[in-house]
Amino acid sequence: MESTRKQLIEVMNNQEGHVSGQELSELLNISRTAVWKHMNDLKKDGYEIEAVQKKGYKILSYPDKVSGNTLQWGLNTKWIGHQLFHYDQVESTQEIVHQMAKQGKPHGTVVVADEQIKGKGRMARGWDSPKGKGIWLSLLLRPNLPPVQAPQLTLLAATVLAKMIDERSALNPQIKWPNDLLVGHKKVSGILTEMQAEQDSIQYIVLGIGMNVNQSEAEIPEDIKYKASSLKIESGETWNIQETIQHLLRLFEQSYDHYERHGFASVKKDWEDYGYRIGEEVTISTMRNTWKASLVGIEPDGALIARNLQGKEEKLYSAEIHWGEGGYHA
Ligand code: BTN
Repeated sequence: MESTRKQLIEVMNNQEGHVSGQELSELLNISRTAVWKHMNDLKKDGYEIEAVQKKGYKILSYPDKVSGNTLQWGLNTKWIGHQLFHYDQVESTQEIVHQMAKQGKPHGTVVVADEQIKGKGRMARGWDSPKGKGIWLSLLLRPNLPPVQAPQLTLLAATVLAKMIDERSALNPQIKWPNDLLVGHKKVSGILTEMQAEQDSIQYIVLGIGMNVNQSEAEIPEDIKYKASSLKIESGETWNIQETIQHLLRLFEQSYDHYERHGFASVKKDWEDYGYRIGEEVTISTMRNTWKASLVGIEPDGALIARNLQGKEEKLYSAEIHWGEGGYHA
């Protein structure tokens, strides 16, 4: 956030009552007109500001409306979101970050939108992204990794989403292989990772996160109601989208830094702790055959490990998995 504005909010936060325009202009070394302009900008961003003659300004409430400034305010991260762009409406945040990557924007650049009209899901599917109801964001990463390790970052992102939900609620999030977030057996969040790479180095990754946050039952599209939900539906509470995004970004930075220093082991452990149906018996169908197995965990290359009834383990990259009445294709 622009630093004058940050200081302005800080000064007003630290004082009990009103702060006069004169005081603010002296403390921040800006003109009275500039103070007045900043106040108008803050109001536009959803801050409720009281201006009383002879007393000055006071912040009455903070915005629940998401904006680039309010998202960066208090984020306190080392690298993630230092460049953060917020849009009211876009086709897809993925495309914007691809363009930014090509223009040379740094590792950790974030694009957030209130609404996407052409949201992209995995396997060429769409992603419903209604206005103000969820987290629709893409993250630019420039990891120093060979392309074969890129799936590890998707798995890492899934553990971050699970931890965030876990830390903010009593919900019991689970990760369905490879990277869908489930609550109460229904999908609340998905990850789309797109990579630009050379033979043995990654140029950049655009990691897209879609999370259904405040949709009501009626707002979930009819054709996916049986398998999709939102955090609000599952928890019975409305979530503050801005704080949820900030929490997510902070956790992402922590996990990413840990992964860079210590490798995949802790991501694997976290993933398996949150893994859906891990340890349970399922039926697996691939192009070649169908057999019963129990799901064991994941491999460093992102494959799912399944153990058949004879105890033999197999790595799966694409399979249909069934249990009881349910099942999924991945
Ligand atoms: C999935 O199919 O599970 C992945 C969904 C990913 C959706 C997110 S929303 C933000 C970003 N922009 C997009 O167009 N897609 C991703």
